[in-house]
Amino acid sequence: MKFHENYPLKDITTFHAKVYAKDYTEFISASELKGILSAPILKEKPFMILGGGSNVLFTGDYNGIIIRNAIKGIEVIREEGSDIYIKANGGEKWHDFVMYCVSHNYGGVENLSLIPGTVGAGPIQNIGAYGVELKDTLFEVQAMNIHTLEVKEFSNADCKFGYRDSIFKGEEKGKYVILAVTLKLERNPKKVNVSYGTVSKELEVMGIANPTIADVSKAVINIRSSKLPDPEKLGNAGSFFKNPVIANSAFEKLKEKFPAIVSFPAHGGHTKLAAGWLIEQCGWKGKRIGDAGVHKDQALVLVNYGDATGKEIYDLSTEVIKSVKEKFGVELEREVNMI
Ligand code: EPU
Repeated sequence: MKFHENYPLKDITTFHAKVYAKDYTEFISASELKGILSAPILKEKPFMILGGGSNVLFTGDYNGIIIRNAIKGIEVIREEGSDIYIKANGGEKWHDFVMYCVSHNYGGVENLSLIPGTVGAGPIQNIGAYGVELKDTLFEVQAMNIHTLEVKEFSNADCKFGYRDSIFKGEEKGKYVILAVTLKLERNPKKVNVSYGTVSKELEVMGIANPTIADVSKAVINIRSSKLPDPEKLGNAGSFFKNPVIANSAFEKLKEKFPAIVSFPAHGGHTKLAAGWLIEQCGWKGKRIGDAGVHKDQALVLVNYGDATGKEIYDLSTEVIKSVKEKFGVELEREVNMI
């Protein structure tokens, strides 16, 4: 194992903010990770596991060790009728894994095409888009306890998934490194999920009446590329905020005052609000302060035009939260992890 000192994080986080880590190392197997976690230096300094760096904002230099998961590999582990169980290692790029599934006609993750980040980061915030969440196909998560170095299997129920939430963000936060995930997908699927309006509209535009999973994947890729900035060209971490979920009674009052408010029904007497709409109504869409900005096509996304520091992006997010609170009385929560 090799530790690098004063390591730039600009190219390994999708915000591309100019920050440094005191030390950096990576692992390509569970046994390498064991070696790293047992190293004496880990007792002296704080450390953090990083995946694709697509859901994190460093607001300053990191005074510890960044350990990056680079375990690669995808394998079919079991087939039962039309069910197929596929294990993907944590360091695989999520989108590459989706493309593997689509090309083999294994259905279930096609709506999650083009989500940045790695497979290992997926379960932490239960990645989701266009009517599908990772929890819908996740069978098992394999993770190493950073203290005992034991490998544990978490079933879908063990993970306690919620909207952009899981046990790995809650009671087990910081205790495990996700090594691999196993998904239960469907071979040669007969059905696709086009419940999200923009997906069915895009398929119509594409002139496709009976879509395959490859068509749905293509539609999602088209939508995402037209609305969401490519992190390789413009630094960002996808949705910066969560869509707030409020009680139906509070929603009714807001709707009286703002009849055009965009919302979706949520579970248990709640309504989910489109945070992008709230932010846009406050006049933030397309605004720029120095090199930090609110994206011009999707107000839920904060961007780095070049040299923004993590602190500048954080400060912008605080201003956005303040105006939404003032205008709508709704508290936005950051989805991106602040370090
Ligand atoms: N809207 C606006 N202005 C905006 C953005 C959105 O008015 O600037 C309104 C529009 O009415 C639009 C509606 O909000 O129809 C919903 O917008 P969109 O379909 O873009 O979805 P979203 O709720 O803004 C969520 C996820 C995205 C995911 C999409 C599609 C969260 C925090 N974000 O965004 O996830 O791709 O749905 O399922 O739940 C991510 O997590 O990084 C991410 C991009």
